[in-house]
Amino acid sequence: MSTSSRPHVLVTGGAGYIGSHSAVALHEAGFTPVLMDNLHNSDLQAVNGVRELCGEPVPFHQLDVRDGEGLTALFTSLEEAGTPLQGILHFAAHKAVGESVAHPAMYASNNVGGLGTLLEVADAHNIRNLVFSSSCTVYGEPENVPVDESAPFQPAESPYGWTKQASERVLTDHAATHPEHRVALLRYFNPIGAHPSASIGELPLGVPNNLVPFLTQAVAGIRGALTVFGDDYPTADGTCIRDYLHVMDLAEAHVAALKWCLAQKSREAVVRPFNLGTGSGASVLEVIRAFERATGERVPYAMGDRRAGDVVAIWANPSRAKEELGWETKRSLETALADAWRWQQALKTA
Ligand code: NAD
Ligand code: WQD
Repeated sequence: MSTSSRPHVLVTGGAGYIGSHSAVALHEAGFTPVLMDNLHNSDLQAVNGVRELCGEPVPFHQLDVRDGEGLTALFTSLEEAGTPLQGILHFAAHKAVGESVAHPAMYASNNVGGLGTLLEVADAHNIRNLVFSSSCTVYGEPENVPVDESAPFQPAESPYGWTKQASERVLTDHAATHPEHRVALLRYFNPIGAHPSASIGELPLGVPNNLVPFLTQAVAGIRGALTVFGDDYPTADGTCIRDYLHVMDLAEAHVAALKWCLAQKSREAVVRPFNLGTGSGASVLEVIRAFERATGERVPYAMGDRRAGDVVAIWANPSRAKEELGWETKRSLETALADAWRWQQALKTA
């Protein structure tokens, strides 16, 4: 099928980590991803990687999601070309917890304001299917694990976390007056890894805050030893527990969620949250051991103090996604870590 005859889907933040992998998954499933990104936290390398993996000149537009006129021009040009958008995967947002504490207004403007502009323009163009990047951060420190979608939100630990809670609320309130809307709120747990080709992956700018990019950079000798943030937590080995899922599994969940939106027949709006995780937790030390098993490399690390704001243990109950989206993770923690390492090595030699 040629690019022009496939259903077109906007991917905001399409040059970013999860957006680029999801674009490849969309293309594999028969859609044309229309990438849009302001390149604030990414560069054209990811766009080129997506094009290489898709084997086609996938469209890319350098545009800010808060630029309503730019969005209008893009949506109109797609309509005039006979390829109107069938839906939107909305990834574009700032995502650094620490930065959000220093710049809460910037996070509110970009993450919540950007969503507002996108919704207004989408309404004007009758685009009704939207898949939104939410986060397990909305649950805070959960009362019970695994967490299912009925768990109450805790007061947000950071301005970033608040933007995800607020965005879910905006989408829910908006749907109350737009009965044609179909919205999947995807609450990701901890995405890691890269496409197995190592053509695309995560590009952390500066010192990584997240565990796996820091770990791979430490093993590559770009950083010093990894600091394990706290070994006195009430867990089996004293380190925090998270639910790490392969980014390609997460990408495929977006295709499943889009198809779910397209298949809804209800006369009323549908807004549904879905947890996306493996259903099991791994401690920081278990991640280190799994990385060593998967790659044969030794991880330099040292025990350190707790990091402020860290939740002790959280992992998903992903049953709803399995039952309603027909999606579950297929790749192991070892596979994800091996792919993260392959990507790190490709970056080093690039
Ligand atoms: P990323 O930074 O790699 O990708 C986001 C992309 O959006 C970047 O390419 C950035 O340049 C772009 N962007 C930001 N603001 C924009 C704007 N105003 N207009 C256009 N483009 C803009 O981040 P990611 O890890 O791919 O995250 C994607 C989404 O998933 C975000 O909404 C994030 O909050 C959410 N999320 C990420 C994680 C995670 O651990 N990576 C976990 C849960 C949720
Ligand atoms: C994982 C574990 C750390 C780095 C954050 C955001 C969250 C979400 C994903 C978007 C924790 C430990 C880490 C290090 C360590 N994003 N660690 N040494 O904290 O679960 O979630 O990113 O929505 O909102 O809060 O992920 O990768 O930072 O940490 O020991 O150098 O690794 O303490 O236990 P986290 P993470």
